[in-house]
Amino acid sequence: MGGLGFFGLIVIAFLAIQVVPYGRDHSNPPVRQEPAWANNQTRELAVRACYDCHSNETKWPWYSNIAPISWLVQRDVDEGRDELNFSRWDQSQGEADDAAETVIDGEMPPCFYVLPHPEADLSRGEKELLIQGLRATFGGEDRGGEDQRGRREERQRLAQAKQP
Ligand code: HEC
Repeated sequence: MGGLGFFGLIVIAFLAIQVVPYGRDHSNPPVRQEPAWANNQTRELAVRACYDCHSNETKWPWYSNIAPISWLVQRDVDEGRDELNFSRWDQSQGEADDAAETVIDGEMPPCFYVLPHPEADLSRGEKELLIQGLRATFGGEDRGGEDQRGRREERQRLAQAKQP
């Protein structure tokens, strides 16, 4: 290691991982079919906050060319498209009815993504519109037995209240 030093080793390791093929492909397969969006605004908000990982219209940023960031970006896009792909509405997308919920919970878009993507940093009002739009497009208010039971009880109460 004659005089290479620690920093030299880091540089060599950094250069070496750049030749790993994984994460360099950056493919955007054809858009087969889009959901029947409830309105244009919902689509626009989804494009801003979701499409990089949940469609075939990913915008690959410059740093997605640099390992190891490229590996993380690739994994997000692969897993994101796997779970829910707005460009493949010709196939069943089982997670669509959870879409609104993930925004309500602040789970999507992921916070590490929002930081370098200010356009995905939706205002309160925009979030509200997106949630409404996702529900209008995909449904998803009925989550689990708990919720449905609550609503059934509510209906019974209303029905009883109406009886003379
Ligand atoms: C940085 C990439 C990225 C962005 C941007 C993103 N997602 Fe995701 N999403 C993922 C990944 C990766 C998964 C699978 C792993 C997981 O569940 O965390 C996922 C999973 C999901 C799931 C299914 C699993 C679950 O948690 O219920 C839904 C629904 C979803 N995302 C909706 C959205 C919506 C709606 C948006 C935009 C408001 C969005 N995502 C933005 C990467 C992303």
